[in-house]
Amino acid sequence: MNQEKVLSVENISKTFPGVKALNDISLDLYKGEVLVLVGENGAGKSTFVKILSGIYTADEGGKMTLDGKAYTPKGIRDANSQGIYIIHQELNMIPDMTITENLLLAQGFPKKKGMKCFVDWKEADKQAQAIIDQMDLKYDLHARVETLSVANQQMLEISKAISQENAKVIIMDEPTASITSQEVDKLFGYIHKLKARGIGIIYISHRLEEIKRIGDRIIVLRDGTYVGEKEAATVDVDEMIRMMVGRNVTQYYPKSEHKAGEVALEVEGLSLHKLVKNVSLQARKGEVLGIGGLVGAGRTELVRGIFGADKIASGRVLIDGRQVKLSSPKMSVKHKIAFLTEDRKILGLLMGQSIWSNVVISKLSKLGRFGFLTEGRGIRVSDDYKEQLKIRMPSSRSLIENLSGGNQQKVIFARWLFSDSDIFIFDEPTRGIDVGAKTEMYELIDRLVLDGKTVILISSDMMELMGISDRIAVMSNGSLAGVLERDDFTQEKIMELALEGYLEK
Ligand SMILES: Nc1ncnc2c1ncn2[C@@H]1O[C@H](COP(=O)(O)OP(=O)(O)OP(=O)(O)O)[C@@H](O)[C@H]1O
Ligand SMILES: [Mg+2]
Repeated sequence: MNQEKVLSVENISKTFPGVKALNDISLDLYKGEVLVLVGENGAGKSTFVKILSGIYTADEGGKMTLDGKAYTPKGIRDANSQGIYIIHQELNMIPDMTITENLLLAQGFPKKKGMKCFVDWKEADKQAQAIIDQMDLKYDLHARVETLSVANQQMLEISKAISQENAKVIIMDEPTASITSQEVDKLFGYIHKLKARGIGIIYISHRLEEIKRIGDRIIVLRDGTYVGEKEAATVDVDEMIRMMVGRNVTQYYPKSEHKAGEVALEVEGLSLHKLVKNVSLQARKGEVLGIGGLVGAGRTELVRGIFGADKIASGRVLIDGRQVKLSSPKMSVKHKIAFLTEDRKILGLLMGQSIWSNVVISKLSKLGRFGFLTEGRGIRVSDDYKEQLKIRMPSSRSLIENLSGGNQQKVIFARWLFSDSDIFIFDEPTRGIDVGAKTEMYELIDRLVLDGKTVILISSDMMELMGISDRIAVMSNGSLAGVLERDDFTQEKIMELALEGYLEK
């Protein structure tokens, strides 16, 4: 890392109606360094980087300098042309356009020689191919982006941002939230190349273990203010958490003794058209059934099949011992199954709606029949969850899109808690959630189970999976490799099962 500044920020503040998202932030970014921003959900991280990338304008009074010159981006394109790029926290591709179209949209399509109005698609594909080749992605350029998994879309975003030749600063807002550890390795390898080119990188993540691996310097934000700065190599993680949360976070995985009762959900010989083969398992009342396995092992596919979000090829699902036909998510909700998906933007949030409507949507009838009752009670309900989950929001009437990413995730979690379901399927519920709030989510899961409910939990975080599950079913290459009881949980055993389906027989 050299000591030449690429970007300098002085006294930046940002006020939204009712919220001071940033309060007088000053910092420098050096060429070739990875500067990590950490802080709780709603601390102001995304707001800060949106100001850097021209999406928001800061309040009067601050100053930014890029490569020694005053920097006042008029918008994201202007920021790009001056060399600042951002990989967004929420996916930003256009789902029904092809990969080539998405990759070249911002920079413009190559035109046929002498014919300004006609796109040279052959050349366009060539350019797109060069972009995805950098990250070794083997995608069909003509496939629509919506056919890619969340992780693959994220990889596409990453390869798009890092392919820019004029880049001076690249901002990554939780780039690894949904990708696999293999892909994280690829990304980190690439970050080293960017550093060598002298590009400054601002990196945001809630995965504290990866910060030490990739970061040079760490800056902690809390409630929109600068709390302090640490060297990544020597930082003490507990101390960093204390700086973020303002208190000690000691018990990471609160869990009471659970007494499992009767079988609530049974799956017999379930196969899907994609990946999942002949899975049979049971989830009981009063237990957390964890589902482990590598990313791509079929965990999400399995629960989507159970929930009726994807078509089943064969097999049966029984609830309380009776066979049910869960042919759509609507049917499953009727049978009191809740499903928190990993892909909150597509399957979860009602954009353009208030926070309270997003909370009560699954159970509007619970609030009474009269419109005027609905709003007041809806607001009271979401205010309640706001307390419990420490959701950082100005008011329950605010629009959902004005919440920070992690706080949106909490709202969806609240929705399902409120839904009065008996069986809760949570797919990566703590993705993008800060360390302090995770504990609160675990406590609520624990309470559900003590109440006799059934929780099915998919998590790629091994410590979390072992910390809160009563049993763990391990998927491998689309099949169920085995089920472990709590006393038998070890990382080695889980990994062994997770790999089983990939070994040559
Ligand atoms: N467009 C907006 N309108 C109103 N308030 C907003 C808007 N964008 C962000 N906020 C508020 O600003 C605060 C900071 O949000 P921000 O998204 O920067 O948090 P964050 O640190 O990125 O959190 P997370 O870890 O959850 O992603 C939050 O209270 C949020 O609700
Ligand atoms: Mg954010």
